[in-house]
Parts: sequence; C-alpha cells; structure tokens
Amino acid sequence: MPEHPAVGIDFGTTNSSVARTRADGTVDLLRFANGSGSSRSIVFFEQQQQGGARRSVDTFAGQAAIDAYLRRQGAGLDATGRLIQSLKSYLPVASLTGTEIFGRRYTLEDLIARILKPLREAAEQQFGHLITRATVGRPVRFVGAETAEDDALAVTRLTAAFHAAGFHHIRLELEPVAAAHVYESTLTQDETILIGDFGGGTSDFSLVRVGPSARSLPPSERVLGNAGVGLAGDAFDARLIRHLVSPALGSDSLSRSLGNKLLPAVPAWIFRNLERWHYLSFLRTRAVDEILRAAHTRALRQGEDADKLAALRTLIDEDLGYQLHQAVARTKVALSHAEAAEFRFSEGGLDLRAAVTRAEFEAWIAPELESIEAAVDGLLASAAIPAPAVDRVFLTGGSSFVPAVRRIFNRRFTPRRVVTGDAFTSVARGLALSP
Ligand SMILES: Nc1ncnc2c1ncn2[C@@H]1O[C@H](COP(=O)(O)OP(=O)(O)OP(=O)(O)O)[C@@H](O)[C@H]1O
Ligand SMILES: [Mg+2]
Repeated sequence: MPEHPAVGIDFGTTNSSVARTRADGTVDLLRFANGSGSSRSIVFFEQQQQGGARRSVDTFAGQAAIDAYLRRQGAGLDATGRLIQSLKSYLPVASLTGTEIFGRRYTLEDLIARILKPLREAAEQQFGHLITRATVGRPVRFVGAETAEDDALAVTRLTAAFHAAGFHHIRLELEPVAAAHVYESTLTQDETILIGDFGGGTSDFSLVRVGPSARSLPPSERVLGNAGVGLAGDAFDARLIRHLVSPALGSDSLSRSLGNKLLPAVPAWIFRNLERWHYLSFLRTRAVDEILRAAHTRALRQGEDADKLAALRTLIDEDLGYQLHQAVARTKVALSHAEAAEFRFSEGGLDLRAAVTRAEFEAWIAPELESIEAAVDGLLASAAIPAPAVDRVFLTGGSSFVPAVRRIFNRRFTPRRVVTGDAFTSVARGLALSP
C-alpha cells in the first residue's frame, strides 16, 4: 500500500476520533461500528481461565472494551477484568508510570498505545492506505500539569505512545487551534476568533487570527494567546456525585460513637474516591470492606440509614463504577436540555433515584465555572484584546453543551457572535486539515 498524508487524531480524555483529508480537499472521519465518528478512549484487560495455572490476557479498546467488560460483569466474572479510562489525565503525572495488571507491568505509554493501535488499524482498513503519520491534538494545558516540566513529560509520553502504536511521524497541534480549521475554511475574510474546547478532562481556549490571508501568517502571529484549565466534564460529574449520589449512599449519615459523639458513619475519603469513577476499583480492598461492614452493622443497630450503607457496599463489591458514571453523565446531559432531571441508577439490585434541577447543578459547579471564566478573562487581558474585538466565538467539545458554560460566552460576547461546531469531531477534522 502506498503511504499517504498524515491523518488527524484527537486522542481525548473521554472520546477519540480520526479524520483524513481526501485528495479533493474534503475531510472524512473514521466511522465506528455504531456509525459514530468517535470512540471511547477506554481499554479493558480480560484474563482468560485456561485450566490450571495457564492464563492468557486479552485486551480490548473502545466500544469492544465496554462490551467485553459488561459481558464479563453480567456473567459474574468481574474480578478477572480491568477497565481503564481517562488515561490522558495521567500524562503529566510523573509519579504515575504505569500499573500492574494480572501480574504484568504496563507503562502508561503502553496502555495508551493499546487504544491508539486499533484506531490506526481501523483507519488503514477504512481509508485503504498505510498510516504511519499523524497530526495529533494536545490540550493547551494537560490536566494536573503545573510546570513546564510536567508539560514536557506529557508531550514525551504522548509521542512515545503514538510511536508504540505504529506511528512513525507525529506532529502536535493545539486542540483548540485545530478545532478552528474547519470554521476557517468557510471564511471569505479574516477574523479574530476565540475558540473554547470543553472536553472531559480539560477546558482550553485560544485566540486566533483566521481567514484567507491569516492562513499564510506564521503560527506565532496567528495564535494571539492560549489558556487552559484542567477541568471539564469529569469535574462536573464529580460534583453531581458529591451532591446528588453520595448522600444516597450515606455521605451525610452519622453514627454515634462509644462516647456518644456523632461522627460520619463512613470516612469522607471513601466518597472522594467515588467521585472519579475509575478510582472506585481502588476501594475494593479488604480494609475498605471492613470499614463498610462495621459501619453497616452500626447503622443497623442504631436504626439509621442502614439501607444507604448497604447500597454503598453493593456498589463497591460489584464494582459498578462504570455504570454509576454512565448514569451520572446521563443526568448531566439531560440537564443540558431540560431545567430538571432525574438521576436513576438501577444495577446490581440497586435502585437509586434523585431529582435535580439545573439551578442546583449550576450552583454545584460554580467553582469550576469561575475557573473557566477567570481563564477566559485572563486570556483576553494578556493578549490585550477586548471582548468587542473578538469577531466570533467558536465553542466545541461535549461539555460545551452545558448551558452555564455557554452563558459565560453569551454574556461576554453576545449570543450572535457565539457559534458551535460539531462538538465531538471538530478537533479531529481540523487536525486532518492542519497544514
Ligand atoms: N449534552 C451534553 N451536555 C453536557 N455534557 C456533555 C454532553 N455530551 C457530552 N458531554 C460531556 O462531554 C465530555 C466529553 O467531551 P469530548 O468528547 O469533547 O471530550 P474529550 O475530547 O474526550 O476530552 P478532552 O478534550 O478533555 O481530552 C464528557 O464529560 C461528557 O459527559
Ligand atoms: Mg477534546
């Protein structure tokens, strides 16, 4: 097969997409089995029992990972699988080099490559040519990256993961800048635009000159400034869990100590681990089991909230973190479209329900919204571009559907100037178009 130009790859915290530019200049996306143009950034390790001590380990990525995980859990075999996601969030974390799975050590780069390689192979199949070159998106600020060293580490690891997945030539491009390429291709005159990309892990902003003549400027003159905060949809989910779900699992429950003092029935750190679903499996330890068993027994004796603590134990015992997270995300998505929604979780014999209004949700995510606003204002100030000088605001990424996020921009720039692109694939399309 002949080698072709680079494909664009958006390896996201939650979702990944691949796009290519055809010879006629149009862009098409890699389509997945369900017809969607993006696939979950998730990997599942499954240990096969092959009689005696011989056990092989299979890995699955994307939708196949979710399917294998749910199949295994449905069959009560969850202890022999490991589902891993949000890997992008660990890229700048020097202390996290990898993890041990079924007795074998995997580096972070290895794990990410297991998501990227199937993407490359599927794209080769569908596009009908070899793929060894990619233009790869990177956030303005990686989640948790505080220093230039953190950023350099994230870039080195991301590049190594792509190499391990069979890509030989990698070029990095800022995700929000990529997202602007598609919009730019529709322009007949130059504009100054602000791009906001709100994903699962990061919220990124760029001020860019776009248009027919701006296109020929060097990048340093085109990009007027960047800003980013390491929080987005995952952080919103965590707030919903804290305020809506955890109370139904006993986070507000108290129990009476021997000295007749009222204390939390379950230590707060257990609920903190619940807020990021992929930490939930860290709670499946004997120590936690003992804490919860004792708390449950006390609650039964004192006649308080025993059902909540029982639900918490089931959730952890049955490792229902993935399903819990899905239910929370469904509630969040519903709140993007309606003023009120119901959180509903029925799995493993549990049936949790809680009503929530958009106003409550917005109050819970107020600290995140403030950080986002501060980043936008800081960017405008540091680039010395007042809000009225911004011709257009382009919002993308799944979390740009959150009305409170959109309001930040509508207020500053008026709704007329705020436009939305294809929230899930504009970065990949733009990477494919990237010169
Ligand atoms: N309608 C919606 N309302 C609110 N949030 C949504 C909606 N649809 C998707 N999301 C959220 O958007 C996030 C995923 O968005 P996206 O696919 O753009 O992220 P990503 O590219 O994987 O992440 P990142 O860019 O941070 O690496 C998830 O947190 C998801 O719950
Ligand atoms: Mg993204």
